[in-house]
Amino acid sequence: MQIGVLTENAPFERRVALTPESAGRLITAGHSVYVQSGAGLAAAEDDDAYRAAGAVIGKSPEEILGNIDLLAAVGQLDQQTASRLKPGTAVIGLSSPKDGRGPAGVLVDRHASFFALELLPRITRAQSMDALSSQAMVAGYRAGLIAAERLPRFFPLLMTAAGTVPPARVVVLGAGVAGLQAIATAKRLGAVVEAYDVRAAAAEEIRSLGAKAITLDVESQTSASGGYASEQAADAADRQRRALAPYVAAADAVITTAAVPGRPAPLLVTAEMVEKMRPGSVVVDLAADNPNGGNCEVSRPGEEIRHHGVLVHGGRNVPSQLAAHASRLYGANMSAFILAMCQDGVLLSTPEDIAADDIAAACCVLLKGEFR
Ligand code: NAI
Repeated sequence: MQIGVLTENAPFERRVALTPESAGRLITAGHSVYVQSGAGLAAAEDDDAYRAAGAVIGKSPEEILGNIDLLAAVGQLDQQTASRLKPGTAVIGLSSPKDGRGPAGVLVDRHASFFALELLPRITRAQSMDALSSQAMVAGYRAGLIAAERLPRFFPLLMTAAGTVPPARVVVLGAGVAGLQAIATAKRLGAVVEAYDVRAAAAEEIRSLGAKAITLDVESQTSASGGYASEQAADAADRQRRALAPYVAAADAVITTAAVPGRPAPLLVTAEMVEKMRPGSVVVDLAADNPNGGNCEVSRPGEEIRHHGVLVHGGRNVPSQLAAHASRLYGANMSAFILAMCQDGVLLSTPEDIAADDIAAACCVLLKGEFR
């Protein structure tokens, strides 16, 4: 196959869909890879590295799009890029055109196919392709660093001639992939960490990182579907917030990472709860980029605001802040996905072949211009 990679142009996007390493893997398997000149620069990969891996560098998006059967992407395509796809091109990315934000109509007109990596089933065969997990891990690590950097206090316990500095208290809400990495990062920096997740099974994972698992006197979820949490009823969510309030009030930094697939992010920290925190405390809301709002009532995506003396950081495309490693992991997921979705060197493309493969069936949202 002829596979293309363009410079991503969504706001705040610095990642690239294939690094030289992952492009090389596809080239070794017999595919050709075309990369727009400079596509990897924001992720610390230059054209020479792609050339050395065997990729062809193209000057413009038009030049690439005219040559390819498959576009490897990270974020949402813009209308112009979508309209330049050769008819029948397949696109693999992290942002399904079904979510109402992408150029769905243009992709249909171009008879394009779209495989959305965020819909990957969490089965053993798909683990190496799990881009949501790899990017969540990057985001969680960054969230720990942002909290440490923004807090006007030390994270670790320090004993100095001028007195003893107690360690910072960090509370992490939501202990999935991102939350666990935020816990690990805050612990490495010396903070005392407590964490909470609505899934009962998360408590053991929290403890295995040396943090304290917060147990609330409210119902937890014991049979989460596919390992995911489900949305709570309004009264249960309210009880949960009230039970969390004292932990939030006592924290120097709160990192929120809670999500429910396909549903709005749960509201865990209200404006009133932020107002009860000490001045100078920090909230990092990794869910802020959600169309319906994040886990903290006052967070704004991509902004840092002060609310009653508390700094509230709203994450926006946080993995892009560590674009080199985020791209390396994403490229590894992408190349594994492409190789798994190929039969005799071409991407699965008939409804029967797609239906027969559990990964393709879950991820293929558009097949030759028809939504599935
Ligand atoms: P996610 O990004 O969907 O959500 C993040 C976390 O928020 C989850 O732990 C969820 O339980 C929690 N959450 C949701 N509502 C909440 C609320 N009201 N209060 C507190 N916490 C709330 O989740 P992620 O990181 O994708 O992980 C979900 C599950 O999938 C975990 O069990 C994880 O171990 C599992 N997993 C499985 C993989 C595999 O089998 N290949 C790969 C990665 C994760």
